[in-house]
Amino acid sequence: MSDVVVPEGGFWPAPEIPQPNIYPMEWRVETEKLAAIYEKSKRMVWNPADLPWDTLDPREFTAEQRLGIMYWFSVLANFDASGPAVFARATIQAFEKHEEDPVRKCFFSITRDEMNHEECCQRAIARLWPGGPLDWQPSTDLERAAHNNIGWLYHNGGRYWNGYNTAVGKYSLAVLFTSFMMGEMAASTLFRGMASGTEHPLFSDMFHKIGRDESRHLQICMTILENEWPGLTDDVRGLITRQLRAGFVFLSMILWEPPEGFWELPPYFLHNHRVLMDHAREGGLGVLSYEEQAGNWRLAMARVRAIVERWGIEFPAIPELDIDGVDVDVIDPEDIIPVF
Ligand SMILES: [Fe+2]
Ligand SMILES: [Fe+2]
Repeated sequence: MSDVVVPEGGFWPAPEIPQPNIYPMEWRVETEKLAAIYEKSKRMVWNPADLPWDTLDPREFTAEQRLGIMYWFSVLANFDASGPAVFARATIQAFEKHEEDPVRKCFFSITRDEMNHEECCQRAIARLWPGGPLDWQPSTDLERAAHNNIGWLYHNGGRYWNGYNTAVGKYSLAVLFTSFMMGEMAASTLFRGMASGTEHPLFSDMFHKIGRDESRHLQICMTILENEWPGLTDDVRGLITRQLRAGFVFLSMILWEPPEGFWELPPYFLHNHRVLMDHAREGGLGVLSYEEQAGNWRLAMARVRAIVERWGIEFPAIPELDIDGVDVDVIDPEDIIPVF
């Protein structure tokens, strides 16, 4: 039985696999730097369950502060808790499009990290407000306002998810990753700010760890974009300008305050949002002031701008932060890609 069968007339070629498809399997490496980042990501994995959760004592907070902090984590979850599903889908797409192996692996590592960030939202909420974000009965006006705002927030999260699902297959890596890059820039900015602002050691530890992950995600995005940007056409450049505006509009909900142009919210939402954020701030979570947030967000935008302009991509106007640039009209859910 040691001899193989060699058919007369030669082996039959296997049928060509219609693409996109994850087969045939291959492990092509073009960007060593990405492979190195993936190795680093494996070594730096941490476990949210190992944070000292028993030091987060609900009795140290007033009911309003607990509600405010739960509310903040529910807002964060609109972004960070969508991360695993968003990047899992991007990972599948990278396999189907036969992106080089380190690209696929880096996507997977972001998915893994985002699952940890999601778990932080889950655990912080479970500790301070059992049943949160939505599976509890509000009994005061403040509680009803929080519950209702979270419902509206996730209504918009749902619109984003539907839009992303339609859009993800349409965009090239350059477009997808410029948007992701903006999300990671926003995320690393946010967590750096909050890590320095929080008064609680558990939150400080958590924000430092998440911030470190987000910086690595940013590094992954930048490395992929350095490969993708040189081949850009003007059409794609225009699309990216639009995506950057979409990113600002979407991410401002957690970085600052939601601007006009995408969010479907009732008229009282913003006022109640501010009241709840004030309670979270008073609880020592590390939520920066309105002005500090605007300052950080402006700085993050300036960084993104400096990066994209090197590649001839125009920056959109952000009048909300006094940033001039190209006017972009109304943003649709399909325009929004950013995630944390
Ligand atoms: Fe991230
Ligand atoms: Fe994240």
